[in-house]
Formats: sequence, structure tokens, C-alpha cells
Amino acid sequence: MPEISYPFEPFKIKAVEKVPITKREEREKILWKYAKGNIFNVPARKITIDLLTDSGTGAMSDEQWAAIMRGDESYASSKSWEELNRTAQKIFGMPYVLPAHQGRGAEHLVLTVLLESDKRPVVPGNGHFDTTSGHIQWAGGVGVDCICDEALDPESDSPFKGDIDPDKLTRAIEDAGIDNVPLVILTITANTAAGQPVSMNCIREISKVCKGYEIPLFFDAARFSENAYFIKTREEGYREKSIPEIVLEMFSYVDGAMMSSKKDGLVNIGGLIVCRDEELYRKLATMATLFEGFPTYGGQAGRDIAALAVGLREGMDEHYLTWRIGQTRYLGARLRKAGVPIFWPTGGHAVYLNITKAMPDMPRKLYPGIAFQNAVYIEGGVRVCEIGTILAGRDPETGKERTARFEFVRMAIPRRVYTQTQMDYVVDTVTAVYEKRDELKGIRLTYEPPVLRHFTAEYAEVELVRNN
Ligand code: F0G
Repeated sequence: MPEISYPFEPFKIKAVEKVPITKREEREKILWKYAKGNIFNVPARKITIDLLTDSGTGAMSDEQWAAIMRGDESYASSKSWEELNRTAQKIFGMPYVLPAHQGRGAEHLVLTVLLESDKRPVVPGNGHFDTTSGHIQWAGGVGVDCICDEALDPESDSPFKGDIDPDKLTRAIEDAGIDNVPLVILTITANTAAGQPVSMNCIREISKVCKGYEIPLFFDAARFSENAYFIKTREEGYREKSIPEIVLEMFSYVDGAMMSSKKDGLVNIGGLIVCRDEELYRKLATMATLFEGFPTYGGQAGRDIAALAVGLREGMDEHYLTWRIGQTRYLGARLRKAGVPIFWPTGGHAVYLNITKAMPDMPRKLYPGIAFQNAVYIEGGVRVCEIGTILAGRDPETGKERTARFEFVRMAIPRRVYTQTQMDYVVDTVTAVYEKRDELKGIRLTYEPPVLRHFTAEYAEVELVRNN
């Protein structure tokens, strides 16, 4: 193939799904009358481009659909399980493989088995995803964020802003006491830090720190192949290595991993645990039988498991990853060129709009992220999602709103779903909103649930717009 400067789709399309096209007045009515200002309540059939999440929203390949037809629905030790077991053992270099119904199912098993709640355990990481934090809390523990300082700078060119700072980690372990740290979790890529990757150097170093304290190190591996691609293209010494070689090396430094298969597994539902230790596996398998299903299916149909075995391999295909990461970069770079502030460099699965910088005059208590997100829907029927003050919620003890590090709006890109022209449409829509950002009204809550408020809160617009 000749040298090209644009992301080339390494697939052709076999089945198509009609994209809903709506009118502005219709969208205004749906968002404010029907959905009460909450983008989650807008019916998908009224959304033109849906960038709410990259989780479970990807398109499966012809090979995966063929695997679905061949799925073995035997209750125990099915052919599909054997296929997944072999595939996962080979990819991750771990002897024990345990399916779960999705990522949070895997988290539930690992964290309840590893955390002994009578000790108020501390789990350091590089910014746990919210379901992970939830499960840590559920098991009586508390998460500590040890992400590097570069993650706090949305402008710099640092290539691995998802890294854990080893000094912060050591301090967290010393402060908590070794006995109170049942595991360390490295999330690859760091979803709460704009999908930024973690370097091999960091994985190696953190593994050394953990080994020194005899603390298990686990990956939250939802986006493991995207992370491997960043290592290949951004870290010295990996350009000539294949993605499977890099993945194998990444996993060689950890004791286990839990993952949502709905991202780089290229399936619409599912989760997975892999680990090295037999005793731990036995405990997890016992819990799995109680909560997920028999350990060879873990809450999934045989056909889902069969599709995952294919998806794990396809997700590591280098042509696919070049296009995938290229598409995210394309969206980010075009927005940046148009003057829209984004978290830079772009990460793997999403482009994060930096609303703190875009709308400095709108106070946080008027939820500028929600205002912007809703305006993007009204403008072009594109669904994006606030990651800011509303998502951060309230401190359960004081009832006060937590301060989000930044007001972001996330544009998560489903895998193998949208074309470059559709990304151009997103750029035009977002840029149009950005250009009239000074006209956006503030937002107030009209209903707020006690937890996870972003899913079900309701909003109204506030006439009072500015700070003064
Ligand atoms: N860990 C990470 C890093 C995630 O991004 C997610 C899900 C999970 C765990 C939980 O997995 O949804 O299969 O139970 N992230 C989605 C998102 C929901 O939109 O970022 P799950």
C-alpha cells in the first residue's frame, strides 16, 4: 500500500444500518420535553451519530457472525469455551481463564475475593473507572489515584499520560501499610484520564514496586490492544515488535487481569478474568459459580464466547489498530485545527473536549459540560457525554459536590461503526456549537438521584448565563 496520510478503513461493509436523520425542532422537543434534558433518555432512534460510549457498541465481523452460528450451547466445558480458553491463554500467557457477564462482573469477583473488608483496604491505581471504584467501595475498600502529573496537563505532548507515578505509588503503599494493600490496578488505557496509554516502562517499573512489597498487580485490561498499539508507535524499542508480542510482554509483568470484553474484545457483551495463581483461580471460580454462572460460561451464551475468541484476535490486527487509533487522532486533530480545545494528545477510544478551557466564563455550578453536550445534540443529533461535575457527583459524607479535575465532554468512538465522512460531520457539528458557546445557557438540576446521578438526573436551562 502507498504512503497515505489518512486513516484507511481495512474492511468493507457487508450489512448496513440506517442512520436516523432528524430536524432541529424535533430534537429540541425530544431533549427538553421527553428526555428532561438528559442525553441518556434520548431514544437511540433519534440519534444520528452516537458517541456516548465505545463499550459494546462495535460492529462484529463476518468471522464473528460465523462463530456465533457455530457457538456451542452446552452448559459445561463447551467447544466455544475450549476455543476461548485456548485463545486467551495464548494471547495473555496466563493459565487460568474465567468468563464473566461483563467487566463489572469480573471486577465484582476479583475485588470481593482479594479485599478483606475488615481492614478498610486501599487499592492504588491510575484513576479507577467508576464501576471499579464502586466495587472497591462495595468490598469495604478505598481507591487511591497515583497517576502521573502529566495526566493533569491537557496540552503537553507527553506520550504516556496514563502512567502511574512510582513515587506516588510507594507513598500510597507506605501510608496505608503493606498489609492494607491487597492489589494495585493499572487500567490500560486509562479511561478516566482521557484514554491515555500506559508505557511498557511503567508496567515494568510498577511490577517491580509491587513485587518488592509482594502485592499482586492486576490490569483493568478493557483496552489492552489499543494500549499495545501506543507502545508500538510511541515507545522506543517496540516498533519492530508485533502487537501479540507486545501484549504478551505487557501481561508478563502482572499477576492477573479483569476486563470488559465490550471494548477491545470486539463483542457487544461479556467480560473476562485471567490469572496465574491456581489458588486464586479456585476462589474466583467458586464465586463465579455463585454470581455469574458455571466457570466455563460465566453468564454468557456459548455463541457470545465463540465471538469473543475471534474478537480478541481481530482486535490485535495491526491494520485494524492503525485505522482505529488513526480515526480517533483524525477527529481530535481536525477539532484542534478548528480551534476547539481537546485533551492532547488524543488517546485510544475517545476524544475529550476540554470544556474548562472552551467555556471559562460559565461557572461550574451551571454545568457547562451538560450545556455543551446538549447543544451538540440539538445542533446535529450527535450524542456525546459530560465527564465533569455532574459525573463526579457528591461526597456521600458532606453532601457537597465533588470537584472534577476538568469539565470534559467525551466523544467515545464505537469500533468499526462510523466512516471518515461521519467523523467530518461530527467535527462540523461540534465546531458550530463551539463557535456559539457564548450564547449557551447554563443548566440547573430539576431532579437528582442519590448515587450515579448522571444516568437519571433531570435538567432545565437557566436564563442567567454569565458569572457576573
Ligand atoms: N473498566 C474500564 C476501564 C471501563 O472503561 C469499563 C466500562 C469497565 C471497566 C466496566 O466494564 O461496562 O463491561 O461492566 N466502560 C464503559 C465506558 C461503560 O463507557 O467507558 P463493563
